[in-house]
Amino acid sequence: MNATFNPQRLIFGASSGLRSVLYRSVATPLGTWLLESGALDRFAARNRERHLTGFIHHEDGVFYQYIEGEAEAVAQVWHAIQNDPRHEGVTPLHLGPIPNRRFSRWAMGFNDGAKRSLHDWAARSGLSLKGRREAQAVGAFLEYASGAAAR
Ligand SMILES: Cc1cc2nc3c(=O)[nH]c(=O)nc-3n(C[C@H](O)[C@H](O)[C@H](O)COP(=O)(O)O)c2cc1C
Repeated sequence: MNATFNPQRLIFGASSGLRSVLYRSVATPLGTWLLESGALDRFAARNRERHLTGFIHHEDGVFYQYIEGEAEAVAQVWHAIQNDPRHEGVTPLHLGPIPNRRFSRWAMGFNDGAKRSLHDWAARSGLSLKGRREAQAVGAFLEYASGAAAR
């Protein structure tokens, strides 16, 4: 069979390239399980295998996670995450193609609001976390937190 004429392959071809997803969700139970249960390390190991990179922030029971990688790998993990009962109200803030990775040093970096607070940072920076501005502000905060966490 000639792969060029396989419609699925053509779709793959059209949708390949770097993608990212940024979402917000509510942890069930409180998000501290992520670190305490060792799940963070397991998820990070899976991300490494799939060449996914990104950063997750937990603050007062709310998660913000940014994941980036090849379209197929992002689609798979995004599907699993949306159906994961350990959080609810999974709300995508931004999905789409990206020119470059923002978190190439992190398979799954983590920050807790007790250490660096998104809300305090946004207030200090004069940024709104409401409506359409949320994705941009959260993305900028995650980059800041990822840099600070590396030190
Ligand atoms: C807040 C949250 C973040 C998650 N992040 C990731 C992740 O970055 N990578 C990953 O492989 N799984 C992540 N998971 C777990 C997935 O939802 C899923 O359980 C895991 O990928 C195993 O999928 P499978 O059961 O389909 O094999 C996350 C789950 C939650 C609740």
